[in-house]
Amino acid sequence: MIKREIVIEPDPILREKSQPLENVDDKLRKLMDEMLTTMYEAPGIGLAAVQIGILKQIIVIDISKESEKKNPLFLINPIITFKSKNTSIHEEGCLSLPGHFAKIERPAECHLDYIDYYGKKKNLKAEGILATCVQHEVDHLNGVLFVDYLSKLKKDMIIKKLIKQKKDTNKIIL
Ligand code: NI
Repeated sequence: MIKREIVIEPDPILREKSQPLENVDDKLRKLMDEMLTTMYEAPGIGLAAVQIGILKQIIVIDISKESEKKNPLFLINPIITFKSKNTSIHEEGCLSLPGHFAKIERPAECHLDYIDYYGKKKNLKAEGILATCVQHEVDHLNGVLFVDYLSKLKKDMIIKKLIKQKKDTNKIIL
């Protein structure tokens, strides 16, 4: 399976809105498989299509522990239908912001409607890490990153470091 390159912030595509899909076919399933491979190899527990440069409403998630059997979740056209009033705080990272983490408060539980890998309509009641992960990934589809929940000062500091990291990776050692 092909591994795709992950888009790193700052990049304007990460701020764009992803479009819904009309049907699920083999071509789309192949793309979702590639997203999953990319996510596992990174490694991460969630990836939105925009993070590999595709502005479509597709998310892959797997919150299973390393020791457990893999349990991938494919979410197409997800719509959050409920967010609980009670919140929880998790330390979040993002494959598009490598090396940076922050404690983010979000609704502790959420429900969503989505289309699955086979094109079937499904719904999901998520809590704990899964609820956080789903909300983080749905944010990606709306051009929102976890740093947007931080103070401007903290956010600017992280973005500045990412710009420096990007410059460093472009250096060629001969
Ligand atoms: Ni992310």
